[in-house]
Formats: sequence, C-alpha cells, structure tokens
Amino acid sequence: MNTERGLAEVLEPVDDSRLTGISQPSFRLLIENTADGVLVVDLSGAVLYANPAAGKILGHSREDLLHVPLGRPIARGETAEITVHRPGGKPAEVEMRVVEVSWDGKPALLASLRDISARRAQEERQRQSQKLEAVGRLAAGIVHDFNNLIAVFESGLRLLEKRLAQDPNDPKVATLIEELLRRTQNGSALTHRLLAFSRRQVLSPQVTDLNERIRSLTSLLDRTLGSGIRVELDLDKASCPVLIDPDQLDTAILNLAVNARDAMAGAGVLTIETSRDVLSDVEELENSTASFSRITVRDTGCGMSREIVAHVFEPFFTTKGEGEGTGLGLSQVYGFVRQSEGHVHIDSEVGRGTSIHLFLPCSSSPTAAI
Ligand SMILES: Nc1ncnc2c1ncn2[C@@H]1O[C@H](COP(=O)(O)OP(=O)(O)OP(=O)(O)O)[C@@H](O)[C@H]1O
Ligand SMILES: [Mg+2]
Repeated sequence: MNTERGLAEVLEPVDDSRLTGISQPSFRLLIENTADGVLVVDLSGAVLYANPAAGKILGHSREDLLHVPLGRPIARGETAEITVHRPGGKPAEVEMRVVEVSWDGKPALLASLRDISARRAQEERQRQSQKLEAVGRLAAGIVHDFNNLIAVFESGLRLLEKRLAQDPNDPKVATLIEELLRRTQNGSALTHRLLAFSRRQVLSPQVTDLNERIRSLTSLLDRTLGSGIRVELDLDKASCPVLIDPDQLDTAILNLAVNARDAMAGAGVLTIETSRDVLSDVEELENSTASFSRITVRDTGCGMSREIVAHVFEPFFTTKGEGEGTGLGLSQVYGFVRQSEGHVHIDSEVGRGTSIHLFLPCSSSPTAAI
C-alpha cells in the first residue's frame, strides 16, 4: 500500500537548510500526527495517501479512502471551502488547499484539509447574537419613543377631561386638541422611518437625474448646515438617470448631510459627488452586471471606528446624546437604497472623515420619456 512508500515531493522544491536535518521518518511522523488532513490524489482523482486526520475529516477510514475516486474533482492551486457530508455524521465545513506534487515520480495533487466547522459555528453564533442585540435595540427604541408619546397623550387627555368638566366652552380645549393632534404626527413620522428601514414603505419611483436633484437641494443644505460648512458639488455629467423615489433621495441626502454636520462640529467641507460606476471595487457589486450611478457624500469630520460602522444602519443606533439623535437617519438611507435595489458602502477613518457611497441602479429609459 502506498502509505508505506515515500512522501510526496512538492514540485517547486523548498530549499531550506533548516529542513535538511529532518529525516523522512520524522516527516512521516509529522504528517501522520498533524491535525490537518493531508490527501494525495492522482490525476484521475484516486486517493494515493491519506493521513489519519483526513480520514477523520472525511468520515471514512483511511483504508476506505485509498484508491477510491474522491467524488469531487480537485484542481491544482485550488483553495475552496467545501461541505463534507460524512456518513452518519454531521456535515463538516472544510477548507481545502491543493498543490501539485510528485508521488512515486508521477504528478499528483496534495490537498490539505482543515475542519473549520467549529469556527464557522462560532461565527454563526456571533452573527445571531449581534442580530438579537440589534433587535433588542430596535425594540428598546420603539418602546422608548412610544412611551414618550403615550405619556404626552395621557397627560393631555387628563388635562382635557379636567378643563371640560370645569367649563365645556373653555377656548383652551381647542388648543389642547390641536396640540395632541400635532403629536400624533410624531408617532406616524416614527412609524414611517421604521417602514423605510424595513423596506416596506410605499415608494413612487421615477426616472431621476441625480445631478439635477442634488443641485436643487443645495440652498436647503446651505441653510441646514450653517455657515461654517462649505458645500462642494462634484457632479459627473456621465452619471446615468436612476429609477428611484426622488423625495426619499432628498431625505437620504439630508440625513447624510446632517450626520456630516454633526461629525464636523460645525466646521468643514461637505462634498457631494456623483459618477457613473459600471463596475466597482465594492464587494457586493463585484459580480453585478448592472450599471450604477454613485452618489458619494463626503465629510472632513471625526470619522467612525470599525465597531461603529458595523452598527450604523441599525434603527435606533446612535452615539449622540438623549434628544440629539434618534438613530434613524442611516437606517432610512439603508432601507431606501436597498428597496431601490442599490447598495450603500461606508469608507471612514477616525480623525480623517467619512465617505458614504450610494450605488443606485441606472434606469434604462431616458429622463425625457417621463
Ligand atoms: N458622517 C459621519 N461621521 C461620523 N459618524 C457618523 C456619520 N454618520 C453617522 N455617524 C454615526 O452613526 C450613528 C448613526 O447615525 P444615524 O444618522 O442613523 O443616527 P443619528 O444621526 O445618531 O440620529 P438621527 O439621524 O436619527 O437624528 C451616529 O450617531 C454617528 O455615531
Ligand atoms: Mg443622523
């Protein structure tokens, strides 16, 4: 049996004088005892050698593995994560790396296998707990805001009851009713923002020229941001029209601009840039064949740490003090962009500033058609 024969030689030989003292039996001992699976497979896919760890990872005895086709083609230079269905056991997530070797003078492939099931399960648990944390934050935020509203209604209604009992014609009663009606709008504004995040809002998409829309927002931006902040536009004529709800876009840009203002503590430069991005280096868009127009809102503010970036799209996540931020701005941005089949990407560095990129899918019909 081949297990008794010589070990594989990697085709590109390692010239390391530190290895010369290690005898072949020592090498065998290392390979036989390593926790990683080692498989040598001939070019037809038959297994020529398997160490004990490979048998364990694949769920077969070493003897069963030998000379049996692997059941999956493997290629030189391949690095892949595969799911191994073990007979009678739980499937294992396995990381496999393949190099070309020579075995008994013939070309063969050496696959090293690492069982990463435990690591994957741990990552999954972490993802779940982060999700639960976000749901907890969401629930706490809703409870907090609605409790405030209920408190306002309760005290308002009690006052109304008292005034009506004293004098049904009291003119202040009408003012009080007016005030309470105004407060109901706070409640519906909150539910709208939550609907935006959950991508369940009713959108009215229209073919929109981004540059035009952004230009029309500048005077509002100037007024909102204050004199310490310079607004610069860098609008690319080549950016294509997009199919979006223009009112939601205005809200999203305002949300981004207000965040930028807060991050710059009242002084700095806010740049709004557009460009046409057919292919982008953003991970989510790597395999996309669609073309996008990009809007980038850039500031020279305090920036964000990675930990903060990981949470900013969650509703009610805020680093601002009580009464200063509700933590719903970026969740509106995220919900709107995702519902419009686009993507959001954040580049931020603490102390250097933040760029938030919105990738919106180009519409195929020209603006003039509307
Ligand atoms: N441009 C930015 N620079 C630095 N930090 C930012 C920026 N934009 C967002 N953040 C961080 O992300 C958090 C969440 O932003 P988001 O707009 O969702 O909520 P908020 O601004 O805190 O409250 P709201 O927008 O509801 O008034 C902010 O509290 C802040 O910590
Ligand atoms: Mg905000």
